[in-house]
Amino acid sequence: MSNRRSFIRKSSLGALSFLFSKNNFSEWGESKTEIKNKPIVLSTWRHGIAANEVAWKILNSGGNALDAVEAGVSVTESDLTNQTVGLGGLPDRDGFVTLDACIMDHDCRCGSVAFLQHIEHPIQVARKVMDQSPHVMLAGEGAYQFALKNGFSRSNAEVPTDKSKKRYLEWLKESKYKPEANIENHDTIGMIALDENGKISGACTTSGLAFKMHGRVGDSPIIGAGLYVDGEVGAAVATGVGEMVMRIAGTHTVVELMRNGASPQEACEETIRRIIRKHSEIKNKQVGLLALNTKGEYGAYGLTSGFTYSLYNKDGNRVLDSRFAVG
Ligand code: GLY
Repeated sequence: MSNRRSFIRKSSLGALSFLFSKNNFSEWGESKTEIKNKPIVLSTWRHGIAANEVAWKILNSGGNALDAVEAGVSVTESDLTNQTVGLGGLPDRDGFVTLDACIMDHDCRCGSVAFLQHIEHPIQVARKVMDQSPHVMLAGEGAYQFALKNGFSRSNAEVPTDKSKKRYLEWLKESKYKPEANIENHDTIGMIALDENGKISGACTTSGLAFKMHGRVGDSPIIGAGLYVDGEVGAAVATGVGEMVMRIAGTHTVVELMRNGASPQEACEETIRRIIRKHSEIKNKQVGLLALNTKGEYGAYGLTSGFTYSLYNKDGNRVLDSRFAVG
């Protein structure tokens, strides 16, 4: 049976298969898994190129995917010229830069921080939450105190940066909140990677949507929304308007579609279609999805045009244009 026919059959019977089958791969006659495209790392947007470089060095020297994604997105977090990730990010409506991040490995171990301020590397705090706490998610002042107790220090960076303050002051003149597609042609950095040993992990970090309400948390630190990984299946990561992703648990949806036979590309496309069905207004909005399965097959899809992603495998590191649903 062709992949597509298998997927269609799968979609219609999906609910039943979830209920009655623990191992959908065998149910659908999946051929013996042979990992042929590893290591591989994918990340959202053009800013993923620099992040991929660092992740690849780890992957290519036999390191594990979890360390690779953590180190990779840390590069973007440190770039104070980047206005959508890390402390260089644009502030909320009240002038505060608040950061969200999460990390997850093949065993569904995960850690997350939300509404964190003054820390250069939220992703590394998320990893500590995963490794050193009994919890999955810490937020706000609690996350900050946890970071300080675990060896992180308050950043000396002037935040918002001059560049972000300038944009904020301009925005204040009208104070209109309208999240737009592809701001500066980047957004969250999400990264997913498969290492030499066939282990898969992901990381996701952002300063969130510019000029959001104070206290707003987006999809990026939410396991199953901004990021989901299951080593039996694969991984997915999201970028764009977080609320649209959260409403349908976007990355969990992608991974579950893959579990049920969809290719990474098919899973991204079906998930974007679901987002479209659930939203009456998609004009000027963007959601981008990346997916990777344990065979090293990958997919990418955007709600609208303009979503780019960075891919590093044995053929090198490059930026690619994603296919999209709406022109
Ligand atoms: N996807 C980033 C956010 O909505 O905060």
